[in-house]
Amino acid sequence: MSHKLLAGKKGIIFGALDSQSIAWNTAQSIFNEGGEIVLTNAPVALRMGSIKDLASSINSPVIAADATSIDDLENLIDFAISHFGGKLDFVLHSIGMSVNLRKGKEYTDLNYDWMTKGWDISAVSFHKLLQTLYKKDAMNPWGSIVALSYIAAQRTFPNYNDMADNKAYLESIARSFGYFMGKDKKVRVNTISQSPTPTTAGQGVKGLDQFLKYAQKTSPLGNASAKECADYTVMMFSDYTRKVTLQNLYHDGGFSSVGVSQEVIDSIQEK
Ligand code: NAI
Repeated sequence: MSHKLLAGKKGIIFGALDSQSIAWNTAQSIFNEGGEIVLTNAPVALRMGSIKDLASSINSPVIAADATSIDDLENLIDFAISHFGGKLDFVLHSIGMSVNLRKGKEYTDLNYDWMTKGWDISAVSFHKLLQTLYKKDAMNPWGSIVALSYIAAQRTFPNYNDMADNKAYLESIARSFGYFMGKDKKVRVNTISQSPTPTTAGQGVKGLDQFLKYAQKTSPLGNASAKECADYTVMMFSDYTRKVTLQNLYHDGGFSSVGVSQEVIDSIQEK
């Protein structure tokens, strides 16, 4: 399926680590829709992941950037503008990491240095990215910026640990900075709240397999895949969503509006 919805559009994709990554799938969908991309990831991810395979298949350069470093962000944005010969039309922030989650530290016993690091990577990096784009006037009018979130920002999921707080902060930054991006640059900023998805970051969450099944049973349309999230993001980068901004958009098969489904009731019925 290709409608060339993004023909002539150019942008930066953060966070493609391997073929399961939501960002990887998004880069492929954007390419199929005629968009041009600069790929970026943290230096360590460039060494350990397989981003170079993706880059060669979609004719994209890859620039290393730690999303918490203003110097790296400035260098990346300068490169992208000179590579494209003009400003950007879209940016995807597909970045998340909790050191506490990764190291199995419970929410009731957090290591605060790790919390600060995870918060900087998962949430504050979005502010740093938006501020750098804003100061450099790097976006074309009617451009679109998306970050990926999860419903633990609104509801309690005990195993999601401090990532829940990071996502709440990320969504708030999208609204707060999105106001100025809209007023001053005519650029929209939204978060997409995606179904649980089996990726490297997702697998850091304890009990992900059972949780995927629970979400699948709860969502009337079933869980949204990484590829389906990619297609939704294409729509958000297209000219068909020019007045959608400051929103947290659920892309979860209906999970966020369901109290309980019949399948879940049946699965816990006493025998
Ligand atoms: P992933 O592990 O493939 O992607 C996470 C990316 O963040 C990796 O490419 C990693 O290298 C990058 N990253 C980590 N630290 C960085 C830094 N300092 N600078 C630049 N990049 C850095 O996993 P996934 O699932 O594709 O994650 C993408 C986004 O989707 C994240 O924001 C995640 O929280 C969000 N999300 C994931 C869900 C899931 O169940 N997998 C559900 C809802 C949202």
